Amino acid sequence: MVKICCIGAGYVGGPTMAVIALKCPSIEVVVVDISVNRINAWNSDQLPIYEPGLDDVVKECRGRNLFFSTDVEKHVYEADIIFVSVNTPTKTRGLGAGKAADLTYWESAARMIADVSKSDKIVVEKSTVPVRTAEAIEKILNHNSKGIHFSILSNPEFLAEGTAIQDLLNPDRVLIGGRETPEGQKAVQALKEVYAHWVPEDRIITSNLWSAELAKLVANAFLAQRISSVNAVSALCEATGADVSQVAYSVGKDSRIGTKFLNASVGFGGSCFQKDILNLVYICECNGLAEVANYWKQVIKINDYQKNRFVNRVVSSMFNTVSQKKIAVLGFAFKKDTGDTRETAAIDVCKGLLGDNATISIYDPQVTEDQIQRDLAMNKFDWDHPIHLQPLSPASVKKLRVTWDAYEAAKEAHGVCILTEWDEFKQLDYQRIYDNMQKPAFIFDGRNVIDPKKLREIGFIVYSIGRPLDPWLENLPAMS
Ligand code: UDX
Ligand code: UDX
Ligand code: ADP
Repeated sequence: MVKICCIGAGYVGGPTMAVIALKCPSIEVVVVDISVNRINAWNSDQLPIYEPGLDDVVKECRGRNLFFSTDVEKHVYEADIIFVSVNTPTKTRGLGAGKAADLTYWESAARMIADVSKSDKIVVEKSTVPVRTAEAIEKILNHNSKGIHFSILSNPEFLAEGTAIQDLLNPDRVLIGGRETPEGQKAVQALKEVYAHWVPEDRIITSNLWSAELAKLVANAFLAQRISSVNAVSALCEATGADVSQVAYSVGKDSRIGTKFLNASVGFGGSCFQKDILNLVYICECNGLAEVANYWKQVIKINDYQKNRFVNRVVSSMFNTVSQKKIAVLGFAFKKDTGDTRETAAIDVCKGLLGDNATISIYDPQVTEDQIQRDLAMNKFDWDHPIHLQPLSPASVKKLRVTWDAYEAAKEAHGVCILTEWDEFKQLDYQRIYDNMQKPAFIFDGRNVIDPKKLREIGFIVYSIGRPLDPWLENLPAMS
């Protein structure tokens, strides 16, 4: 029986291993993590992450050929194939601070693998890493005096949160990068056989190690670039009276461009896009490619611009101040169908509103009050470095409420901001919300989920990203 061990039971490691276990009953899969809480949660009925379809997959396999454990060393020792799926946040200090990936967790995992192994193993990079990380890992692993050989593979994960199980069951492609040596190719073949249990052969791509590492960063940069492009256009639409949904629809119908990922929004979030682009930028800079670095940096700048623009809209629409006004925030996660809040646009928007002295009341179906408090207390880039946590100022704490009910959040509010595209926000009784709000009642739709026409009929003043403005909003000071 082939044994797989995955180090890191997070958003990537957990779902990926669950699907491998589901599709490969002849393989034993053990997911290990240093966090006792995380492993306990994976072994309970309340999984540590919310992901549609994940519960069923875990229920079917757990205890059969899928196990979760904190005994990292034992399972690494026993495994034939080791996936490394630990966090690789952006460095907060030292060389490359704010851009380069922090490989501390990766390096310590590699050293531990070298220490405990007694037989040849395949080590698979699953978490996104800067190009040529495999070379460094290879050095750590293969400079052992035990005569053990490690083959390093890069097998980046392309799943998106909220659709992880579907993406894993039916991937556009699986990418496996390896050394072009006979041992390297043997390792590629071994991993290919795992995926071949359910992925058609023509969707399993093989490449050299560096191409695989770079392809992941570039894929995320291209995806984020589409959103920043359409978000840049949304500002122009608001200025001219064009409708970004109509523009994006027409543009996307060109099959060279494609229809997906052209939804204008308050800004992209998530653990990958910003981090991976910063990483790409840093690699370009290190290679003396300043123009290329600047080109990709612009994708992040437009994203920051879009978040600021949204806050400015809210404030300027409401008579240039939100001080002492109650703003309801619907949705805090970085996208629907996940409880993940890493780098969510909601953090910047809420901080902006609190900075203007608003009182905010937040509702998200999957995010806890504790999580929101922590997110708002963190500085940029601190998500994976909780050491730097600064408590929210007492004044801000007083101005922040988290509720478990959208109607409660909106009660007596002056304005409502929709920041995540949860399906349930389309079904809300907006007449009821309007009746319980202060007048004039504003709604700022950062995800274009509601029908502005219907809401205007109720009496709301409506702002939607990139759509023709209400007369009310038209003659406000220029947005920048
Ligand atoms: C373009 C648009 O494609 C077309 O829809 C519009 O109506 C007019 O402008 P055109 O300029 O004729 O058409 O050619 P296009 O195929 O778009 O190529 C433009 C340039 O991009 C060419 O120099 C082409 O060589 C280059 N190109 C295109 C690349 O360098 N790489 C590519 O992958 C595609
Ligand atoms: C992304 C990549 O899609 C995935 O392939 C990679 O493995 C990890 O990073 P993820 O961050 O989970 O996945 O979510 P994604 O669906 O890409 O959304 C990222 C952000 O972009 C979200 O905040 C989302 O709301 C936003 N977005 C997405 C838009 O604003 N508009 C769109 O059209 C699409
Ligand atoms: P991702 O979104 O990439 O999956 P997460 O932060 O959700 O990232 O998951 C990474 C996991 O890796 C965390 O649960 C963390 O505790 C775990 N981890 C980090 N370093 C190690 C290590 N040396 N050994 C085992 N687990 C580790």
